[in-house]
Amino acid sequence: LEAVRLAREAWERAADPWDTFIETGADYHRLELHGPALLRAVGKVRGLRVLDVGCGQGYFSRKLAAKGARVVGIDWSRSQITNALRHESERPQGIEYVRMDARDLGRTRKEGKFNLVVSCMALMDMPRPGPVLRGVSKVLNPEGRLVFSITHPFNTSPVSRWTHAKVGKHGPRIVDRYFDEVPVVFPWVLRGTDYKLNSPEWHRPLSVWFEILRKAGFHVTRLWEPTPTEVQSKTIPGLEGCSRIPFYLIVEARLS
Ligand SMILES: C[S@@+](CC[C@H](N)C(=O)[O-])C[C@H]1O[C@@H](n2cnc3c(N)ncnc32)[C@H](O)[C@@H]1O
Repeated sequence: LEAVRLAREAWERAADPWDTFIETGADYHRLELHGPALLRAVGKVRGLRVLDVGCGQGYFSRKLAAKGARVVGIDWSRSQITNALRHESERPQGIEYVRMDARDLGRTRKEGKFNLVVSCMALMDMPRPGPVLRGVSKVLNPEGRLVFSITHPFNTSPVSRWTHAKVGKHGPRIVDRYFDEVPVVFPWVLRGTDYKLNSPEWHRPLSVWFEILRKAGFHVTRLWEPTPTEVQSKTIPGLEGCSRIPFYLIVEARLS
């Protein structure tokens, strides 16, 4: 419970630096790697009713709306939703933002309303994604898809860090305690700001994610581990590591 409170407060407080981090292009992992990969995974969305779970300041909701989707974004943080609404009023795309805890989705009267539910880098920030995904299974049309990105479980292990090489690139990466299911805090200074984000992520082995999905009524239909292109790894030094170990995981699932 303590970790839940920390998570909630961390995202609430971080809203403005987080917005700067994204809007200035400093979050190049998102711009170059996991964002485009998630967009490719969702495919054509024109005319679809889409729900974005844990939408934050609306980065991915806006990407979907720009491709012709009718988007509803939800987030439990008031300040994140405030920033999302500000973007919407500056450049209206018809996106609806609702402040709510994703665990309450099952209690809304929106059964089968969405053709697609997406979540961009948010489910690993939730302590109990099971109830969230059960709610998603209710609001999703039986023919619909769930597509989400998370930090790769390999990389959220409680011990996960590069060793130092004498010259140049990182040395090998140390990963340990992969099978522990624990909240992990990797203190993270948002590039381009001096803000230290301390939000916990809930680490779970890959098999546990599959079990959570299965119990929520989903089966996995596709899975991606996006890597940078050769050019990207050469020209963007910070992405080189992403071609050596998996940083992100993208999952497509359907109702069973
Ligand atoms: C890493 S941010 C990602 C935000 C956005 N999807 C993006 O790609 O920029 C994770 C978001 O999940 C939200 N979140 C975490 N737990 C939540 C919950 N139980 N209900 C709704 N939103 C939640 C946080 O407030 C935060 O905005």
